[in-house]
Amino acid sequence: MPINKLILGDNLEILKSIDTETIDLIYLDPPFFSNKNYEVIWGDTGEIRSFQDRWAGGISHYIEWLKERVIEMHRILKNTGSIFLHCDWHADAYIRVFILDKIFGENNYRNEIVWCYRGGGSPKNDFGRRHDTIFRYSKGSKYTFNADAIRIPYQAEGLGRTDDAMWGKHKGTDKVYKPNPLGKIPEDWWQMNILNANDPERIGYPTQKPLALLNRIIKCATNEGDIVLDPFVGGGTTIAAAEKLNRNWIGIDQSVQAVKVTELRLQAAADLFSNSYTVQLHKYDYDTLRYKDAFEFETWIVGQFGGIGNAKQRGDFGLDGRTQDNTPVQVKRSDNIGRNVVDNFMSAVQRYDKNLFDKNKDDKKPVGYIIAFSFGKGAIEEVSRLNTEENTIIKLVRVEEIIPIAVKPAIGVHINELSKDEKGTRKIEFIAVGESPAGIEFYSWDFSYDETKGFKAQILLDKNGKQEYTLTAGSYNIAVKVVDNDGLENIEVVKLKINGIVEREK
Ligand SMILES: C[S@@+](CC[C@H](N)C(=O)[O-])C[C@H]1O[C@@H](n2cnc3c(N)ncnc32)[C@H](O)[C@@H]1O
Repeated sequence: MPINKLILGDNLEILKSIDTETIDLIYLDPPFFSNKNYEVIWGDTGEIRSFQDRWAGGISHYIEWLKERVIEMHRILKNTGSIFLHCDWHADAYIRVFILDKIFGENNYRNEIVWCYRGGGSPKNDFGRRHDTIFRYSKGSKYTFNADAIRIPYQAEGLGRTDDAMWGKHKGTDKVYKPNPLGKIPEDWWQMNILNANDPERIGYPTQKPLALLNRIIKCATNEGDIVLDPFVGGGTTIAAAEKLNRNWIGIDQSVQAVKVTELRLQAAADLFSNSYTVQLHKYDYDTLRYKDAFEFETWIVGQFGGIGNAKQRGDFGLDGRTQDNTPVQVKRSDNIGRNVVDNFMSAVQRYDKNLFDKNKDDKKPVGYIIAFSFGKGAIEEVSRLNTEENTIIKLVRVEEIIPIAVKPAIGVHINELSKDEKGTRKIEFIAVGESPAGIEFYSWDFSYDETKGFKAQILLDKNGKQEYTLTAGSYNIAVKVVDNDGLENIEVVKLKINGIVEREK
């Protein structure tokens, strides 16, 4: 199983499920309800309500909410690990005193990093608030700090000395001070631009943080192969930086939009050497499961059922696993399982372990379980006959009784030619329409889709499903992905030929 994971859910629950002392670095950028709209767009109505509740309880309510999460973060950090908690004037004082000093200890306070930036209007009677605070604490006295990985030239941004000639013999001593050729370790104030509206890094998230910030944090506090965790992953800046820097990572967010945008961001940056990762949603897509690699599916679903899947492709007597008390389990990755499957299973479980079979039968326990997407009438009748005539219980379990399944959203795309110039260049409007009982979350676009490379979003987050694009003569594959509120997705590829007229291939 890949270590790299994107997980949808409340981070408190997920943090509790992570093993103690396994994480090297935690960066978190928790939301603070500031009555600004951007705080509200993140999640579903549930999230908005919970923000309002926290606010109603005042700052202490917010601090309690964050504190229980930071307690878990402290537990899962390795002894050499560190935490970087990103916040601002709303709560920074409270967070330092009431959370970090209490949980990590004052001795482990390492820095208050002040991230300064410019931009926006200024207030009339106050200084403009143009910095965020990032508290850095280590878990213990020995911690990773890769000074050389983050050095900056002495001359950079006017930080420190600009004149190398100043370096030399120290007055009154024989000591010669030489600058480190790699530059200096930055001070605890960092001047980095915030992402303006047109920044190419922007993916459509108002609170998106710049990659440069995360690059510095990850480089100094981890080595290649270490594990970086972001429990409020948002648009996935931490994960994108960690992936590029060859670190392992775990990202958590309770908003479907955040998790899916992060996934699409990773896909867009992926190449041949990218590491594999899993995305854990609340619901599973029927088609993906149904047509997944059979062995992979069998082992996985037996695990989800609480049992142990066979380690080898060829199972004992065609069985795919067993429950914790050793009762056999068989998996059929298909629908409408027939009577013959039940009959074959009956003989397999007896051959597998006759004593166990007899014991389960005497104890009136199931002698085995068959897991499938659905069962036909023949199988159901046979199971019922075995039960009444032979006192033998076989349990038929549908996959959707083990894990929640949904059908992926449907999608259609309309095109309208808006204009055409004398050279034959056309402006075309693409309108995507998705359908899902769960509701549509957003659309993503790849205007030069190549099936062999996979979907590489150029527009990651489009709430309306409408795009205008200018095309010259030629052939185009334009792909649009629709993502629903369960995080399930579907893709439609529009094949266009432009040669005097606009032709859409079916
Ligand atoms: C300020 S944003 C993070 C932005 C991120 N650093 C970036 O660069 O894009 C905060 C995120 O926390 C998520 N969030 C809020 N409460 C959460 C919770 N209890 N569990 C998991 N995620 C949560 C929100 O959905 C939102 O995406």
